[in-house]
Amino acid sequence: MSAAPVILDERRGAVAILTLNRPDKRNALNGELRCALLGALDAIARDATVRAIVLTGAGDKAFVAGADIGEFEGRTPVDQFRAMKLPTIFEAVERIAKPVIAAVNGFCLGGGMELALACDIRLASSAAKFGQPEVNLGIIPGGGGTQRLPRMVGLGAALKLILSGEMIDATEAHRIGLVEEVLPPDQLMTRAVALAEMIASKSPVAVMAAKEATRAALSMSLAEGMKVETALFQLCFASEDKTEGVRAFLEKRPATFPGR
Ligand code: COA
Repeated sequence: MSAAPVILDERRGAVAILTLNRPDKRNALNGELRCALLGALDAIARDATVRAIVLTGAGDKAFVAGADIGEFEGRTPVDQFRAMKLPTIFEAVERIAKPVIAAVNGFCLGGGMELALACDIRLASSAAKFGQPEVNLGIIPGGGGTQRLPRMVGLGAALKLILSGEMIDATEAHRIGLVEEVLPPDQLMTRAVALAEMIASKSPVAVMAAKEATRAALSMSLAEGMKVETALFQLCFASEDKTEGVRAFLEKRPATFPGR
């Protein structure tokens, strides 16, 4: 174990800011960092006081420069099989019933790009660089890159990145729909936290249901997805949040959502 915690977990009101903290290694994902991120997400999932999450990288160089390549050396297919049966940070971010915003502050490569892809919203610093450089190492993306990237940016743009290993800048990432906003580096966290706070002020039940329903759109047919949306829409009508939200509107006052 290293001396400094590899995940920093800061709370600002209802927002948790998780910082991947291996700046000397460009926040590369080693076993310790993956494990700590899974632990932090699990704790947040059980903490009703947290209503939104911002994920970023320590330092001004990298969000995450991918899997820790040092761990690949000497690893056998059997080692890799076992490792890939463990819970993944990508699924944990995607599945957690709270919104996750990636604040991409620098290099966002390989597994780092796959982590950003698994987040719900991506904001990028104008200094950020994106890429899937696995082909340079004789491997392919293994954290969902070949599946989530084409769903996000289309087949051609995804294949261009995955086959060439080429890096693109934040402007190009925005153009192809990989990031939702590009900001000056010194405004990235302010904007990410403000957006997280805005979402955190809404009904947690509605936000949870909206994430679930919207994500269903990418994994099922329109007819199946409509059933998910309908079921979750109806579920909202059983919540105290809906009672409060509707009453607050009719009484012309701001709503205070209990999150139940
Ligand atoms: N795994 C392990 N270590 C990594 C790493 C990774 N993915 N990315 C960076 N590092 C380490 C470097 O080995 C170096 O360590 P050292 O100081 O002990 O030698 C340190 O981080 C700084 O990296 P450096 O290359 O000197 O920084 P840079 O700012 O000039 O370049 C990158 C940054 C991200 C462009 C470059 O490090 C890089 O290409 N990394 C690999 C990216 C990659 O292929 N990711 C996909 C993995 S599947």
